[in-house]
Amino acid sequence: MSQSSISAEVPSMARRQFMNLLVGGSAGITVLGALYPVVQYFIPPAKGIKGGGVTAKDALGNDIQASKLLAEHQVGDRVMVQGLKGDPTYLIVTESKEIADYGLNAVCTHLGCVVPWNVAENKFICPCHGSQYDNTGKVVRGPAPLSLALAHIEVVDDNVQVVPWKETDFRTNETPWWS
Ligand code: FES
Repeated sequence: MSQSSISAEVPSMARRQFMNLLVGGSAGITVLGALYPVVQYFIPPAKGIKGGGVTAKDALGNDIQASKLLAEHQVGDRVMVQGLKGDPTYLIVTESKEIADYGLNAVCTHLGCVVPWNVAENKFICPCHGSQYDNTGKVVRGPAPLSLALAHIEVVDDNVQVVPWKETDFRTNETPWWS
């Protein structure tokens, strides 16, 4: 047998190492694949927010803590936070000193000014062209054509979460214009 036929039949060291890696790797992947559900079982679920929600943040980007917010605000306050897509969003402190389960996007539906809460009038009054919204954000005077957008507000472990509102608008019984 010539030298060249031996080298053709016996795989080179590099090739053997490659084959070993391939076989070993395949076995490893198979074992890992089998173990995956077991490992997953022991890993706590990620703290994702359901429904594409976000954690409400203050102007500096810090997470809003419900207990702190309630300690610093009065019944009836509308507290502006960063909500979905960073939009200014009002949290509402209810009569029972809780955070209401809905929040209001503060962007005026006319031309996009941020609408302040007017305590004396018990309304949101836009400084740009005078549109008015009642205390639930329902438009009561134009030129704004639509009510302020709603978001669900959920408090989980003292964190305030803002979740997209896709259901019927409870103020108008209509399909939400913002979703
Ligand atoms: Fe608010 Fe025009 S932007 S009334």
